Amino acid sequence: MPGDRLKNVRPRPRVLVVGFAGHQGKEYLPVVQENAELVGGVDPAPAASSLAEKWGFPHYDALGEALEKVEFDVAVVTVPHSDHFPVCVKLLAHGRHVIKEKPFAVTEQEARQLVSLAQRADRSVFTLLQRNFHPAFQFAQENLARIGQPYWFSYDYHLNLAHPTTGWRALREQAMGGVLLDMGYHLIDVLCGMFPEPPRVHSAFVHQYQEMRDRRLEDLVSLMCGYSSTGLTGSLRISRHSHEKIEHLCVLGTEGALNVDAGVATLHAVGGLLLERHTWEGAKIDAVRSMIAHHLEHLDDRYYRQNHLQRQLAAVRTIDGIYRERLRERNELADRCA
Ligand SMILES: NC(=O)c1ccc[n+]([C@@H]2O[C@H](COP(=O)([O-])OP(=O)(O)OC[C@H]3O[C@@H](n4cnc5c(N)ncnc54)[C@H](O)[C@@H]3O)[C@@H](O)[C@H]2O)c1
Repeated sequence: MPGDRLKNVRPRPRVLVVGFAGHQGKEYLPVVQENAELVGGVDPAPAASSLAEKWGFPHYDALGEALEKVEFDVAVVTVPHSDHFPVCVKLLAHGRHVIKEKPFAVTEQEARQLVSLAQRADRSVFTLLQRNFHPAFQFAQENLARIGQPYWFSYDYHLNLAHPTTGWRALREQAMGGVLLDMGYHLIDVLCGMFPEPPRVHSAFVHQYQEMRDRRLEDLVSLMCGYSSTGLTGSLRISRHSHEKIEHLCVLGTEGALNVDAGVATLHAVGGLLLERHTWEGAKIDAVRSMIAHHLEHLDDRYYRQNHLQRQLAAVRTIDGIYRERLRERNELADRCA
């Protein structure tokens, strides 16, 4: 009946954008507006108030003020890494859903605290990871079984930035990690969607710039992951200052190979016969669009929420484990040298 249909039309969620004047925040503004009501924005940056005026929503310098003055259902959070945890804790304490940039959290302890706060408040905390909404990665995920038992992967992700890192990413207290946490979070999440958590990870942290070495913010990381239960082994390399910008995932299995390269997914038989090629002509923003729309539609979906949180917990645990192991090795070395 038409009346029943009308009853089922859900109101558009009211969104507060936190960190909207930054690079990522600005990219999301039009996408959020397509799917929700933009009811306010928080950002202390000098350019924030004129940007809010242009978009037609009230601007606040601090989250506390917005929480007092504006009614909203969900916050989209795009702030530097050091601010993720305090901002999310405050939002959950006020009973708001959170859709946030990566990383879900920096340490396993903070990740566990967020999961428990989200469960207590019956709210969602969704991390924005666009590869999960990119058709090439979706093809890889859906066709993994066709390559038999995976025994090797290699995953490369490199940028070709010509200058040393600047801004908050160059400050240890705000970045809280180098390329592994920043770019690597995406890759670790992709792998967490395909394979179990790796029980053994060996890492090499490399620095192109002395100031990054001094601040213990790696410019390049190389990881070797071992999964003793299945015999799978895999390697990742992530960097900011390579000679070219590339992203390439290759998975070898007993019956074939899967590749995602420059957004194109291919499936090969052992020996190299091309079985299927999945290309996508869409723009990068289309994956972002479906990601934001999907999360906004699933805010009250407890099953989806639970799965999402468990996967983010695994990604954070993996990265935190690698950083803690590096710290342990540094401390051991320092003790030996003392
Ligand atoms: N998914 C991706 O591909 C991708 C790409 C770039 C950045 N990111 C992520 O987005 C987040 C932001 O990165 P960015 O490059 O946009 O940084 P940015 O510096 O460009 O923007 C951050 C914004 O947050 C504001 N801010 C700082 N503290 C705040 C607080 N407590 N409350 C409200 N606003 C605050 C700053 O004024 C700034 O406008 C990071 O988590 C980063 O990892 C993701």
